[in-house]
Amino acid sequence: MIALASDHGGFALKNEIKVLLNVMSVAYRDFGTDTAEPCDYAVFAVPAAQAVARGECELGILFCGTGAGMNCTANKIKGIRCVLCSDCFTAAMSRAHNDTNMLALGGRVVGVELAKMIVKTWLETEFSGDERHKRRIAQISALERPDG
Ligand code: RB5
Repeated sequence: MIALASDHGGFALKNEIKVLLNVMSVAYRDFGTDTAEPCDYAVFAVPAAQAVARGECELGILFCGTGAGMNCTANKIKGIRCVLCSDCFTAAMSRAHNDTNMLALGGRVVGVELAKMIVKTWLETEFSGDERHKRRIAQISALERPDG
C-alpha cells in the first residue's frame, strides 16, 4: 500500500500518478487534499508520513508545488527518509543507497511523463542492503529524537 498526499500545488500531478499506479496494479491510499483549493501541505503530509512510519503503508509519495514543503514536513516524522526528486538517477540511488521510504515531487517542477518515470524507477528499485549504506542510514536514525 502506497500513501499519497498533496496540497493544491501537487493535486493535478497526484491524480496523474494515480493513473500510473492503477496501470501498475499498485494499491494506494490518498490522504488528501481532494480539491485544487489552496491548502497547507503539512496538514496532508503528516498523516501520510505517519502511516508510512507506523508500517500501515509500505512507501509514500507526496506532491506540492515544488515538493519542498512536503519533503521538509515528512522528514520531521521519525522513521521517514523522504527524497525530493526531479530525476530518475536520484530516484534509483535514493532507494538503493538511502532506503528512502517517501518520495516528494513538485507538480510545478516536473512534467507528467518525467514524474511517471521517476515514480516507476523509485518503486522498482530496492535497497541494496550493503553494510556501508546500513551504517550510514543508522547514523541518520541516531539523530532522531526518541519521542519524535
Ligand atoms: C503553494 O503555493 C506552494 O508553496 C506549495 O505547493 C509548495 O511548493 C511548498 O513547498
